[in-house]
Order: sequence, then structure tokens, then C-alpha cells
Amino acid sequence: MVNEFHVLQGHRGPVDRRGRPLHDLRISVMDRCNFRCPYCMPKDAFHEHYRFLRSQERLSFDEIVRLSRLFASLGVRKLRLTGGEPLLRANLADLIGDLSTIPGVDDIALTTNGVLLGQHAVDLFANGLKRVTVSLDTLDKEIFARMSGGFAALDQVLEGIEAAISVGLTPVKINAVIERGVNDHTVLDLIERFRGRPVIVRFVEFMDVGNRNAWRPEMVVPSREIVARVNARWPIRPLTENYRGEVAKRWAFEDGGGEIGFISSVSQPFCGACSRARLSSEGKFYTCLFATEGLDLRTPLRSGADDDELLRLIRGTWSDRTDRYSELREELRRSGPEHRKIEMYYIGG
Ligand code: GTP
Ligand code: 5AD
Ligand code: SF4
Ligand code: SF4
Repeated sequence: MVNEFHVLQGHRGPVDRRGRPLHDLRISVMDRCNFRCPYCMPKDAFHEHYRFLRSQERLSFDEIVRLSRLFASLGVRKLRLTGGEPLLRANLADLIGDLSTIPGVDDIALTTNGVLLGQHAVDLFANGLKRVTVSLDTLDKEIFARMSGGFAALDQVLEGIEAAISVGLTPVKINAVIERGVNDHTVLDLIERFRGRPVIVRFVEFMDVGNRNAWRPEMVVPSREIVARVNARWPIRPLTENYRGEVAKRWAFEDGGGEIGFISSVSQPFCGACSRARLSSEGKFYTCLFATEGLDLRTPLRSGADDDELLRLIRGTWSDRTDRYSELREELRRSGPEHRKIEMYYIGG
């Protein structure tokens, strides 16, 4: 099936069963994290004896580059490195340097908790990183500590953001996951701090990712509530999307104070144009953030598969894809037994 998106882009990659092309690859380079955000890696489940991957179980940089090249030949134009925390992977800037030479890849971004960003911003930028997204849920020290699992590194995160701005990794995006009764009263402070700067704050609806974050629908603050709250303080107007199927809905301050965004996968799912694939740090290929199973690419990679074989596997999996979890969330949750999902830390969001 060829859709209008394809014709416009002129590539010959696979489309899935709902006509969606493969355009983005989100690569988790590290399953560990130096935070324990309760909505992603709750401390009681991810304790000191938790068995994370051993280093040889993670894809090597060469393996990641090889797969990225193959994905690019199938239409992937954008790579995003995620974790866990990607900056815990040693020499990450070298990987970015290699990825930035891949023909067809025109955007490389990184999603990080920001603690190590101050140390690495210069190198990352010099090696070809274009943009960075920092997870920062609140500026309130106590709430920050609670939402990151007891890590009082707020000042380091803010320094990381400043470092990213000063080297030119701009606009810096900030992801703030909003939970009702936890940090929803702090959204205006976050905006106030970054308005007028080369920073786009995005409010993310708390999602039922993984199986361990005790998600309940009442904890979600629908984006429209926050839009109304922001608009009452600083009038905002909607902007058109940067690309088809963009995750965040963009809004601009009427007074020229810049842009903010809303990621509303619970109240307004955006599966219809979802062109995102995910690669876990151990080399499993997932076609949805809420998938149960992934396709193991590490085994064929390590047992001598040639490019054609790998391409056939990737193409076949994408062509069979039907995922639209966020659109079916209520139905799937009602129909129990609980749909088992991969964990967020493992797939990087
Ligand atoms: P850009 O548009 O390139 O800036 O990136 P992004 O917004 O896709 O990436 P980011 O890593 O900042 O993701 C923002 C939030 O949206 C995170 O909480 C992700 O887990 C969530 N997210 C990203 N892609 C998807 C998706 O395909 N489905 C759902 N349900 N959530 C997603
Ligand atoms: N709901 C929404 N966003 C989440 N993230 C992690 N867990 C959740 C969740 N349960 C966000 C992080 C990070 C991004 C990759 O995903 O804050 O910014
Ligand atoms: Fe780590 Fe990000 Fe998960 Fe928090 S949301 S535990 S910073 S991977
Ligand atoms: Fe894509 Fe799955 Fe997210 Fe829907 S829920 S937008 S299919 S990753």
C-alpha cells in the first residue's frame, strides 16, 4: 500500500497494515538509569539487585550503526537515542559521530534526564547531535526529588539545560510528565522560567507504560486542562505540526514568548500517523511503545546474517504491524487479563 506520505517523500520503505511508513527509529542505548522515577522505574521493582543487561548483552556501537544504516535504507530519517539514561553509556558521542554519517539520516536527537548533560554537551554537539530533550517534571526541589526517586540533582539538570543551550543544541525541549495531585500545580512555574528562551516545554500526560507504575486514569491530567490554565495566564494559540504524526501538539504564546507543547497520548491518541519504531538496548525491534513482543535482531546479527536477511526481517515485521495501543487503551484494559507490556526503561519511551 502506498500512501500520500510515501509519494511525497519518494521512498520505497515498507508501510504497515494501516498504511503507516517507517520514519523514526528510537534507539535505547542503555537500560540502566541514575534516577528511579516512580512512573518509569519504581524503586521497589528496580532495586540494587535488579538484573540489568550485562554489557555484552547490549548491542555494540558497530551493531547499532549497522542496524541504523539498514533502517535508513527503509526510510528512517530521524534517530533518537534514549535509555534508561543514554548518557550512562560510555563514549556516546562516538556513536553519534558514526550515526551522523549515515546517508538519509537528517535528524539525530537525544532524550536524557540531563544530569550528565553539562559534562557532555560540547562533545555531543561536536559529533553531530542536533537536538536534546531533557526530562524535567517540576522546579520544586521536593517534588523533583519525589518524582525522580530521591535524587536531588535538580541543579545539575538545570546546568545541563544551560550547557545544551550554550553549545547550540537548540531549541532544547523539556518533557514534564504531569501527575494529578503531584506536580500539576507547578506547571506555570516551569513555563515562567523558560519562556522567552530557546526552550520548548512540553507537558506529557502520564501514561500506563510498562506494568509497574500503578497507573490509574484519575492520575492523568488531560492536556486541555493545562492549555486552559496556561491560556488564562499567557494567551496561547495552536500552531500547525512540523511533520505528519508529530508527537506533541504545538502552541505559541501570543506575546511572542515562544512555544510550548502537549503530548496527549491518553486523551487524544496519535496512533493514526505513528511512524516510530524502537530498538531496545539488547537489539529487539518493537513496533509500539506498548508492545508485548519484539523481534530479536541481535541473534541474526551475531550469527552472521547478511544485510538482505536483516532487511527482510525488519521489513516483514513492519509490514505486519497493526499497533494502535493508545486508541484501544480502554478496551484492552477492560478486557483483561492485563495486556503485558515492555517496561519503559527498557525501550526508552
Ligand atoms: P520530537 O518531536 O522529535 O522532538 O520528539 P518526541 O516528542 O517524539 O520525543 P520524546 O522522546 O521527547 O518523547 C516525548 C514523550 O512522548 C515521551 O513521554 C514518550 O514516551 C512519548 N512518546 C514518544 N513517541 C510516542 C509514541 O509513539 N506513542 C506514545 N504513546 N508515546 C510516545
Ligand atoms: N508517562 C509519560 N511519560 C513518561 N516518561 C517516562 N515514563 C512515562 C510515563 N509513565 C517520559 C520521560 C521521558 C520520556 C522519554 O518519557 O519523562 O521524558
Ligand atoms: Fe530514568 Fe527517564 Fe525512566 Fe526517569 S523516566 S527513571 S530518568 S529513564
Ligand atoms: Fe505508536 Fe503505539 Fe504510541 Fe500508538 S501507542 S502512537 S502505535 S507507539
